Parts: sequence; structure tokens; C-alpha cells
Amino acid sequence: MRKVSLDYNFAMREHITDGITSEELNEHLNLANEGLIKLSQMVEKGEVGFPKLVESDISDLLNFVKEGAGRYDDVIVIGIGGSSLGFEAITNGLLPYGYNCLSKDKRGFFPRFWVMDNVDSFKVYWILKHCDPDRTLAIVISKSGSTVETAANFLIVYKWFNEHAVDLKDHLVAITDPVKGDLRKIVGMLNILAFTVPPNVGGRYSVLSAVGLLPAALVGVDIKRILEGAAYFIHNGKNIYLTMTAIYNIYLTRGKNINVIMPYSSRLKSFSEWFNQLWGESLGKRYDLSGREVYFGSTPVGAVGTIDQHSQLQLYKEGPFDKFITFLELSKHDFNLDLDGSWYENYNYLDGVDLNRLLNTELYATEAALKKASRASMKVVVDYLDEFSMGYLFMLYQYVVATLGIINNINPFDQPGVEEGKDYAYGILNRKGYDEKRKEFESFNRRDRDFIIE
Ligand code: PA5
Repeated sequence: MRKVSLDYNFAMREHITDGITSEELNEHLNLANEGLIKLSQMVEKGEVGFPKLVESDISDLLNFVKEGAGRYDDVIVIGIGGSSLGFEAITNGLLPYGYNCLSKDKRGFFPRFWVMDNVDSFKVYWILKHCDPDRTLAIVISKSGSTVETAANFLIVYKWFNEHAVDLKDHLVAITDPVKGDLRKIVGMLNILAFTVPPNVGGRYSVLSAVGLLPAALVGVDIKRILEGAAYFIHNGKNIYLTMTAIYNIYLTRGKNINVIMPYSSRLKSFSEWFNQLWGESLGKRYDLSGREVYFGSTPVGAVGTIDQHSQLQLYKEGPFDKFITFLELSKHDFNLDLDGSWYENYNYLDGVDLNRLLNTELYATEAALKKASRASMKVVVDYLDEFSMGYLFMLYQYVVATLGIINNINPFDQPGVEEGKDYAYGILNRKGYDEKRKEFESFNRRDRDFIIE
């Protein structure tokens, strides 16, 4: 069984000036508990679905992967935001570094993978150049079925397949809402296979549905184990989750505007990008549930140790007191690479040290330096990164963020602020029904030449 623990010493008054007092912590633990009760009620009523994903029957996903074994050299995921970031976190965390560069046998005969998220022709062009349509599976993922970037990249891939006269049924699958949306209609039109995102699971809470799990299974990740880790969190992670929620809530309500997540492992870089979306979109809200203007939220920042010690740390230690930092530590690592510093005097101190010890030593040194400067932090310690612990971390953070929204009376499951820009884009592109939005855009997009330098 993998272990996850929480060390919040350096968030507390006992260790840093202005740290949290025990009374304050207790007060916010009570709030977190109330949030958990409300969240559980929403889950029981079927309003919120992400916790129940651990009980999903994934045999259809596993059968699909089994039937397609050896048939594909490349898998292209077409999706953006919640439809791609979870998969990227999984592959970055669990597959070998440079996986796509490995030979087929070194990849265990699993396909390479590509993520078509941005509508950036440079990226899309090169993905297609790498792939042979006859040996490629594309998975188009969109819960709403209408996201413009996904629609556009899908159209490119659809045309590419047709130009090469491949049978779409063997090369294209979709993941979308079970009944609604354009992608669901297209599934019917093209008669292709589709997997579903449950309607009560929002995009950024969907990593443990087919959205994250199907592509992950196709590249050889043990998705059953990911769900086991997530389920383990639900049954055993309560203390860590409530304490983290309480601490984040204290620093949020104290006005710390920046929430840094800093894993000490390059393998968790994409996890912090996934976290950024989860935190930013869920908690950044203008209105609370009673319609009051609250401008709630804090800015998530993903950093990676040790890399960002040479980029961001100066600011974290000596800049404004506007940040709270969460470190992620891996206790055990996959490889032991020993250093031989015996041949050069100034490197002697590294002799006999291995890279893992150096990495974690730098983490402890950074924590201490920040503590000395009274900068609050806490640390999630994961004994070893694998499918199980990734599942745990995904579920932990989804619970924390959802609960923070609930206890602050905002909706952590919608994203009204994203809609306006989307609607303007539809208007500019003359989408039917968006004329008013085009006109509104034209009025807001007016610019004075006086303020343009050429
Ligand atoms: O969390 C969300 O709902 C969003 O960030 C979506 O994941 C993102 O906009 C993509 O949406 P869709 O899956 O509908 O294409």
C-alpha cells in the first residue's frame, strides 16, 4: 500500500511568525467538515459525480484496449482543458521520460501518444507528420461537444483520415456526454464508438472517467490501480484532506493571492498544470451563490523543484507576502544514480550522494530557507509515485478544491467567466445564433490609434 502524508509544520504559528494558531485551525477544520457533509449530500443526490467514478465499471475500456492491442502505433488525443490535462498528468507522471522516442519493444508495444489541444497549426501539423493514418487511433474528447478548439482539430484529423481512405470506425472514437451535444450527434452520423463522461462529472473533475483513463490504458497505464488509489483516498484520506482544506481556506481568507504548488519531481510538472486548471476555474468566481459580488479565488502557480529554485524562489522568499506554497515530495524514486565526486576537490561533497538524496535535500533546504523568512508552506509526502498514488492525489485535490468552493458559498463546478470569450469567438466566426455577441464584441473591441505604437 502506498502512503501519503501531510507535513504542515511550516504553516503553523509554532514555526513561523503569523502562522496558523491551533484555534484557527480547529475553527476551519469545522468548516471543512461541514463542507464535506454538504459535498457528500451532493454526491448522494447525484448532483456531483466525480467521487463515484471509483466505482465505475471499466471493463468496456479495458476490452477496447485489449481488442486494439498491436493495431496502433500512435494515439492522438483531441481535447483541451479538462479533456486533456488529466491524461497529460498521468503520462508525465507514469510513463518513462521521452516515452515517444523509445522503440516499440521498449515501449512494451504500446503506441506513442500525442495531445492535440491547442489550435496551433505548428503543433497539429507536426503531430500528423509523425503519424501514419493507417496505424493511428484518434480519440476526440469533449464533454460539451462544442468546444471550438476540439471541433477544429477534430475536423483536421477527420479530413486527414478521409484523405487516406481509412475506415473511421477503426480509427476514431469519441468521449462525450451520453446524450447531448454536437459530438454525440457526430458519433451517430459516423457510426463510431463512443465512451461517456457522466453528466454530473465536470470537465476538470473528469480525469478518473474515460476521459483520462481510456487514453492512459491505451499507452499501458494500469487504470484499475489508479482507481484503487483514488478509492483508497476516499476511505482513508479524510484527515489529510480536511487539514489541507482548512489550511488553504485560512490562507485564502487571509488574502494570500497566490497558491504555489511545487512538486520536487519533473514527473509532476503536468500534475501541477492539471491542478492549476482545477483550482483556477473552480475557485475564481465573481459571484457567490447568493449573487453577491465576491471576486473570490487565488492564482494557482505551478513550479517544479529544483528547477524553479533557479527561477522563482528568489521571489517566493523575498517578494511580497502574498503566497502560500505546497511542496510535493517523493520519498522513494525509481532509480538510484550515484555520484562520484572523488576526482575533483570542490565536488567531493557530492561523492557517494545519489541524485534522489540531492533532490530531496534541496527540498528540505528550500523549506528551511522559506521558514526562516516566515513564508508559509506545507508538504504532501508521497512515498512512491505510481498509478495508485496518482489516483490518490487526483482524488485528494478534487475533494479539497470542491470543498473550498462549497464552504465559501461559491460554485466550484461551473465556469461562467470562460463563456463570454467563447461566445465572442463564435460571433466573430459568424456562428448561427451569435450575431448579438459579434456586435457586442465589436463595441468592446474598439481601440484608439492614440494608444498603439507602430
Ligand atoms: O472544466 C471544464 O469544464 C472545462 O475546462 C472543460 O474541460 C474545457 O473547456 C473543455 O470542455 P469540453 O470537454 O466540453 O470540450
